[in-house]
Amino acid sequence: MSDVEVKYTGPERVFSGVQPTGNLTLGNYLGAIKRFVPLQDEHECLYCVVDMHAITVWQDPAELARATREVTAAYIACGLDPKRAILFNQSKVHAHAELAWIFNCVARMGWMERMTQFKEKSGKHKERSSLGLFAYPALMAADILAYKATHVPVGEDQKQHVELSRDIAQKFNMDYGVQGFFPLPEPVIQGAATRVMSLRDGTKKMSKSDPSDMSRLNLTDDADLIAKKIRKAKTDPDDLPSDEDGLEGRGEARNLLNIYAALSDIPFGDAVRQFGGKQFRQLKEELTELTVAKLTPITDETRRLMSDTAEIDRILNDGAERASALAEPIMKEIRRIVGFV
Ligand code: AMP
Ligand code: TRP
Repeated sequence: MSDVEVKYTGPERVFSGVQPTGNLTLGNYLGAIKRFVPLQDEHECLYCVVDMHAITVWQDPAELARATREVTAAYIACGLDPKRAILFNQSKVHAHAELAWIFNCVARMGWMERMTQFKEKSGKHKERSSLGLFAYPALMAADILAYKATHVPVGEDQKQHVELSRDIAQKFNMDYGVQGFFPLPEPVIQGAATRVMSLRDGTKKMSKSDPSDMSRLNLTDDADLIAKKIRKAKTDPDDLPSDEDGLEGRGEARNLLNIYAALSDIPFGDAVRQFGGKQFRQLKEELTELTVAKLTPITDETRRLMSDTAEIDRILNDGAERASALAEPIMKEIRRIVGFV
């Protein structure tokens, strides 16, 4: 075995996934899906609905099926084109499960124990968490590497998992003496809103699983509900500062400005200057108008697409066939490398 790192020389490929659990939030949109869209013009892209990740915590089966179709509809409503990008659900392509097992045997317990998402999700009940929740990042590495994907657009919270995928790829390449076989995938974390915070607490991530629906904007909320949630969003007593230094310790102000910048596609600094010296009320009014204008077409289109689930299933089947065709030759090589006869 040589200790010289041999570079991966294959083509660039993009992979990302969203879990079909609960409603999609503005965080999913700004942190992930909005940024998937321009990539489809430049790269071969696979965008997956990760139903196998979803069941690491209990999901009602009928609701899982509904949410899988809804995320697919939202992908399309946000601008993904199923003819260009490959849209599919994870459980339909068996390579994910097969490679995840191999990666369970490559990844180390110590690596998994350091994952902050596992610590957060398992909380005080580690012994009662599913084994799948612990092994979750190995499945995520399999998602990416079954296609030798090189770029992974995600929100900030997934950075640690993508880095673990790099460690798994590197250890596989080393252990089996096949340097350069797997690429070391890069997290792509860009844009104004890689971490959208809760509307009720500027120190917490906006999340599908927060018990309070007032903490998040869902891609299914109508204009009245959006207005109500933004009106009630937590603030502080001061006016808005005219420079970024003035946002120190003011998480709620920063978050609302961040959302404003991301939705209007302007740099964060411009949004800060635009509202400098103004009251929260004014920011909230303009933010409401902007959010309604940007989200309503997506919400309407998602609903329209959801009225024809047969068409969504056809898109998922077609995507799964194309994804399998990419993964199968890679899986053949992997089986040979590992020694599976
Ligand atoms: P999940 O809902 O956990 O499957 O997340 C799907 C994608 O959305 C991942 O790339 C996450 O990093 C991203 N994401 C989820 N919540 C947020 C948030 N509050 N801010 C930014 N990105 C987010
Ligand atoms: N774990 C990611 C999340 O919860 C979803 C995901 C699963 C993913 N597999 C992936 C993201 C592969 C990027 C690449 O947000």
